[in-house]
Amino acid sequence: MSRSAHPAGPRHADVLTEGHYTAPPADLNVLDEKVWARTVSRNDDGAVTVGGIEVTRLAEEFGTPAYFLDESDFRARCRAWADAFGPGADVFYAGKAFLSRAVVRWLKEEGLNLDVCSGGELTTALDAGMPAERIAFHGNNKTVAEIERAIHVGVGRIVLDSFQEIVRVSHIAQRLGKRQRVQIRVTVGVEAHTHEFIATAHEDQKFGIALAGGQAAEAVRRALTLDGIELIGIHSHIGSQIFDMAGFEVSARRVVQLLAEVRDEHGVELPEIDLGGGLGIAYTSDDDPREPHEIAKALGDIVTRECESAGLATPRISVEPGRAIVGPTAFTLYEVGTIKHLEGLRTYVSVDGGMSDNIRTALYDAEYSVALVSRRSDAEPMLVRVVGKHCESGDIVVKDAFLPSDLAPGDLIAVPATGAYCRSMASNYNHALRPPVVAVRDGEARVIVRRETEEDLLRLDVG
Ligand code: LLP
Repeated sequence: MSRSAHPAGPRHADVLTEGHYTAPPADLNVLDEKVWARTVSRNDDGAVTVGGIEVTRLAEEFGTPAYFLDESDFRARCRAWADAFGPGADVFYAGKAFLSRAVVRWLKEEGLNLDVCSGGELTTALDAGMPAERIAFHGNNKTVAEIERAIHVGVGRIVLDSFQEIVRVSHIAQRLGKRQRVQIRVTVGVEAHTHEFIATAHEDQKFGIALAGGQAAEAVRRALTLDGIELIGIHSHIGSQIFDMAGFEVSARRVVQLLAEVRDEHGVELPEIDLGGGLGIAYTSDDDPREPHEIAKALGDIVTRECESAGLATPRISVEPGRAIVGPTAFTLYEVGTIKHLEGLRTYVSVDGGMSDNIRTALYDAEYSVALVSRRSDAEPMLVRVVGKHCESGDIVVKDAFLPSDLAPGDLIAVPATGAYCRSMASNYNHALRPPVVAVRDGEARVIVRRETEEDLLRLDVG
């Protein structure tokens, strides 16, 4: 179908300057499986289902806006990552993408480890029974209290992020009479996002210790001489939403070079390397993410090759995917409210959530897809911008997308691939109530994070 098939097509096309779509898909009722959780489909009545339950029923029971998370998809993705890397490597789920006690239990059952970056995430992990030795503790500015707690409970590793922290962790561990396993996070000089990576301007950031200028080598020197810590390896994280493995290749090569330098200088072969997270997912049909087994093979091959050429035994590899596990497993369900056709400009579809439940579009100019899910429609496609209900013009959920032109207030629309960094970055802006996360599996739906209430808001506001 050509764009001009829509009555307002040409005018709308004129303002399509920054969007993803240049033409509407052939059939708006078709859900691209790349961007939707695995058990999502459209039934014969035209309604979309997840885990066998119609979204219309879910909206009645749980309200909107709400995140619906496909539990079997989440578990399948955990297994795919664990199987791809095998028993000789470790997969740490990055809890910052989305963490709740149910998620921790699923991770534990599926054999994954957990990366936390705050006392709050650590509490959630421990409360849900994640064994401390399966937890990695991250952060560029861990507080003394956080470090004390992490060491006290016996986390598997603390990833050291600065010279000061090397000393701080060493002192605290000695005070507590412990020897804490640590990695040093290095900045390898590569910053990768989406389809490209750049090898400049990377040292100018708050994370890690630069390889450049011998700083990382100096950090290793200090860590090896201090009591209270046991240096088990080197950590590197190069960016987010990465599709191209070239950035990981450079990163792995540089980390292995450091291991070789450490061996030459200290006669010590550090046994582990962590290559971080950042693997991309499909937000729209144009994205082509790699499967975990391809990623595992690519990373394994790079590290093995680099170690062979440096004459090192291959270290144990770990990775920290967050988005790639939880991102595709959830969608946000909204009810359509006001629809405004601005003649000659654009059609705005307002929903009952917005930047408080998905800040990514406003913050990163992120691309999303959207579909009418409460019914089928064979009406002509209409180019729209999906916006929220907040007092801000940047409150955009989906910049440019096609929805059927008979869209009406009360329809349900859903934005897929919102499992990562949406609920975890949600806010109370305008005193919005943060939406619930509902896990759906085999015909059953249960709230794993409940909707905030006005009482919650008032409880924090102590007057
Ligand atoms: N490991 C470390 C050390 C990290 O800093 C991160 C993410 C991850 C693992 C997980 O990365 P993932 O596989 O989820 O991409 N709020 C941004 C993403 C920030 C990522 C920060 N660090 C977004 O919404 O795109």
